[in-house]
Amino acid sequence: MNLRGCTITGFGSHVPDRVLTNADLEKIVDTTDEWIVVHTGISERRVIEDGKATSDLAVEAARRALDDAAIDAADLQLIIGATITADTVFPSMSAVLEHKLGANRAATFDLVTGCTGFVDGIVTAAQFIRTGAMDRILVVAGDALTRITNWSDRSTCVLFGDAATAAVLQPSEPDRGLLGWAMDTQGFAGEHLCIPSSGSAWPPDEKAIAENATKLYMNGHEIFKMAVRGVPDIAMQALDKAGLSSADVDWVIMHQANQRILDAAADRLDIPHDRVISVLHKFGNTSAASMGLALDEIYQDGRLKKDDIVLLVGFGAGFCLAGAVLRWDK
Ligand code: ACO
Repeated sequence: MNLRGCTITGFGSHVPDRVLTNADLEKIVDTTDEWIVVHTGISERRVIEDGKATSDLAVEAARRALDDAAIDAADLQLIIGATITADTVFPSMSAVLEHKLGANRAATFDLVTGCTGFVDGIVTAAQFIRTGAMDRILVVAGDALTRITNWSDRSTCVLFGDAATAAVLQPSEPDRGLLGWAMDTQGFAGEHLCIPSSGSAWPPDEKAIAENATKLYMNGHEIFKMAVRGVPDIAMQALDKAGLSSADVDWVIMHQANQRILDAAADRLDIPHDRVISVLHKFGNTSAASMGLALDEIYQDGRLKKDDIVLLVGFGAGFCLAGAVLRWDK
């Protein structure tokens, strides 16, 4: 079977206007700007407006991506959402988006894989496009983590921000767009990053609210160790599938969680740090949106050129890992 290629033909992001600086956080928890910058690389992050939900961020990003691809929402065949903070547990964020965008002919579903969601969405879309089943798919990755942040936990509340990012995927020549990918889940570690009371295991009750168990819990040490080990490994697997090596990579777009993880992974992959894009200082960890925000940075400022090789690597809740190699085709 001759498979088609699958490439990004439109791309866009959106962040809310409201800025929360490290100085602001000093007034909320026992922390300092210096500690946050030294330990994470984050200086400020964006926070969703009161009364808005993740789909409101996602719809802005989606419109930008559709404009960029010159595609009408009504011509979309599928919307894949990637989020752990959909407006409601159900309906899905993508179903809400179908309505808000007027994408009346699109099917929809969400992927609930946290910080790997952008890669998972692209890889999933590619399965429909490469086989010829579909021609126009929108992947929208967005989260409003500040809505599930425990604002009394200084080890997590300084990390997160809100954003959304979107990509239109269409057919291409086989050697363009997505060249290779790899995914893995280490489910034994799921307890290190979760909302303990958020579903059928422990439906939110008074005890859960009193203990902040309805908010994000993270064992930062464990996640840090798993990321530093897992990211280079999944990246090499994706490069291998693409028939490339780390020396071929022009840009590394990694999940934006901690500058020290970006630096350590770059060293292990033997990729110069200036090829590893970081927007951590201005946006923090935006979960599913984070890789898209970093990609958008070099797309908007013109550093990303047609034919550049882009390595995307995500890690997060699950514990999930996902890597993808793209030949940029715009
Ligand atoms: N301000 C001041 N002190 C703090 C803060 C803070 N905000 N947070 C923690 N500390 C203190 C701790 O209490 C501890 O004090 P102690 O030694 O007296 O006990 C000390 O600082 C050191 O704490 P560590 O946890 O060792 O700090 P570390 O350098 O490991 O940084 C961090 C913590 C930033 C959470 C780090 O572990 C990390 O980034 N982990 C990975 C997170 C990640 O990758 N998440 C990605 C998936 S999650 C997602 O994307 C949704």
